[in-house]
Amino acid sequence: MTLIEYSHNAQENSIKYLKKQEYHATYNSKYDFLGQSYGSLYPNLHKYPATMLPQIGLELFKEFKVKKSNLLDPFCGSGSSFISGLEYGITDFVGFDLNPLAIMIAKARLQYIETSQLLKQKDIILEQLLLKNEQFLNNNPLKNITNLDFWLPKEAQQDLKCIFSYIEHLDNMAIQNLFLLAFSETLRETSYTRNNEFKLFRMKNYENYKPNVYEIFNKYIEIITKNYLQFYQPKLKDIIFSLINTRFKKSKRTFDTILTSTPYGDSRTTVAYGQFSTFINEWLGFKDARKLDSELLGGKKVQSLYNKGLIKEYILEIYRLDTKRALEVSSFYFDLELSIKNLIDSINMGGKVFFVVGNRKVKNIELPTDKFISEIFCNSGFRYLQTIKRKISNKSMPPLNSPSNKSGFKSNTMNEEYIIVCERLR
Ligand SMILES: C[S@@+](CC[C@H](N)C(=O)[O-])C[C@H]1O[C@@H](n2cnc3c(N)ncnc32)[C@H](O)[C@@H]1O
Repeated sequence: MTLIEYSHNAQENSIKYLKKQEYHATYNSKYDFLGQSYGSLYPNLHKYPATMLPQIGLELFKEFKVKKSNLLDPFCGSGSSFISGLEYGITDFVGFDLNPLAIMIAKARLQYIETSQLLKQKDIILEQLLLKNEQFLNNNPLKNITNLDFWLPKEAQQDLKCIFSYIEHLDNMAIQNLFLLAFSETLRETSYTRNNEFKLFRMKNYENYKPNVYEIFNKYIEIITKNYLQFYQPKLKDIIFSLINTRFKKSKRTFDTILTSTPYGDSRTTVAYGQFSTFINEWLGFKDARKLDSELLGGKKVQSLYNKGLIKEYILEIYRLDTKRALEVSSFYFDLELSIKNLIDSINMGGKVFFVVGNRKVKNIELPTDKFISEIFCNSGFRYLQTIKRKISNKSMPPLNSPSNKSGFKSNTMNEEYIIVCERLR
């Protein structure tokens, strides 16, 4: 259908919000986990935007009695779904994410490291760093950073190089990965970025900011080591995992359970995962760090509207208000549909899928992404089990967004999220 035909339809059909009561979400306060934060049970080893509370996955696995076999997360982020699985007794994990930082965090939470080895390496690195020695450095990571002096105090640059140099030469890859998380947090904290923002904004009065890089690194390496040993390592002895820094790719493997939380829109207008991770991704030599957001779901422009299923009426309504926004929204749903369809053959008969999503507003129209996902699964040989609605009080994401994209017009759109549960029948 061309845009002109679409526009014609748009005038003929005023929007009919869902007639069907299908895929009706049921609120279940059990899933709110009110008063619980991420840190209260499973402290993350590194900040990441829009993380899912692992308590949610654990409760779902118990309620739906999933098999204690394997778990796939095609948008695994920092790996919270795996923590739910570990706690439940699953031992085999596979995850995909396009963001190198995400994979680094998820790996750090699943790799087993002997306590004595880890503590010894930590002591050695802290001792070595007192010497401020960058003898190990093969290449200069500072050259990868865009606008280096705009973002990093000059004095901090050399100190960061020394720390990185040491970590880069560790033989034990699991320890290296864990210490890189401490480095990444240090890099962020010593930079001029404003704290508590996912997007990159430079702080006011940055000229006066004189961070002590070694002190900051010291703080993070201590916290991360302690949390790793206390909360993760005891559960990791008998597990296997594969975490891959690409989009989901089909393989011969099939899974009994999928648990994932997808982005709820394109990165540019919702959560900018790529921007949040730019510094460390660049530092690690990931050459497309600045383009990452345009690679994530909905990041590529499309020329036609998404005009299938129940979501099309909503897109049509947006189209009547703003053509460009309707195309941006379409791009996200084309990508999401394709991602789900790619997953289908990787799920065993009787296997269960759990998708955690938020229904964002665009132009003040709430897009029923939960129903969109249910519909795709149901059209692909799955039985719809239910949609659980939960209140968000604890997700680390900006609570306010601008659904009409007019500056100054903000509304609190993300108070709830939805968990879609389906089962493969054929
Ligand atoms: C909501 S976050 C997942 C958060 C995760 N559940 C956690 O607790 O950390 C969504 C993730 O999807 C990733 N992503 C977006 N589009 C992707 C794609 N096409 N393929 C793989 N990963 C993608 C983003 O990088 C982000 O890490």
